[in-house]
Amino acid sequence: MTSPLRIAVLASGRGSNLQAILDAIAAGELDAHVVGVFSDRRRAFALERAAMAGITATAVQPKRFADRNAFDKALFTRIDETRPDLIVCAGYMRLLGAAEVTARAGRIINIHPSLLPAHKGLHTHQQALDDGVSEHGASVHFVTAELDGGPVIAQAAVPVLPGDNAEHLAMRVLEREHPLLLETLKLFAARRVALRDGAVHIDRLTLLLPLRLDSANRLHPASEFSQ
Ligand code: GRF
Repeated sequence: MTSPLRIAVLASGRGSNLQAILDAIAAGELDAHVVGVFSDRRRAFALERAAMAGITATAVQPKRFADRNAFDKALFTRIDETRPDLIVCAGYMRLLGAAEVTARAGRIINIHPSLLPAHKGLHTHQQALDDGVSEHGASVHFVTAELDGGPVIAQAAVPVLPGDNAEHLAMRVLEREHPLLLETLKLFAARRVALRDGAVHIDRLTLLLPLRLDSANRLHPASEFSQ
């Protein structure tokens, strides 16, 4: 038996991914505890969702610190106090400090609304439309010092439909983000996933391509594993 995964969540806004995590835990589907929710925005609805679930909700606002370093230190001091096994960036819209990230390699993940390595950064849905791709989606990846550049663990794809706009596409991607994040977190809760030598390992095997979420919300290898 493994102990419940201690998760700290970072979110800047609405917090629907956070809510999906809280609901899955409450339903007994995810063996985890959310030990703290952190935001760079005092009014983030994610903080309210945390408070409603009886979870400590903390705003650490950049403007209250002299510089980037001081902010990063303060944020991670607060996070570390909750002793998380895993830090989950779920709609956290700020770059994390490279030193803090490197010190916690393999213990921070992010959900990004594109099929990485395509469409990093902001406005990913518009980027996908502008590129004329037929497939778009979301990725869960390990966070490294490179923006949206860490090894990808799992992805969910959605087709781009004729006449799509960024808003409709974003809605369809978000629907897939929630099961994608939950299924990936289940792997972490079962202690089946790790970052080693810059690569994702599942059950000690190196993942060559990200896992894919199928229509039944199960994760599958997209290719064979290598030893
Ligand atoms: C999601 O699309 C996430 O991938 C992106 O920001 C959005 C956050 O949504 N990084 P929510 O706050 O979880 O509802």
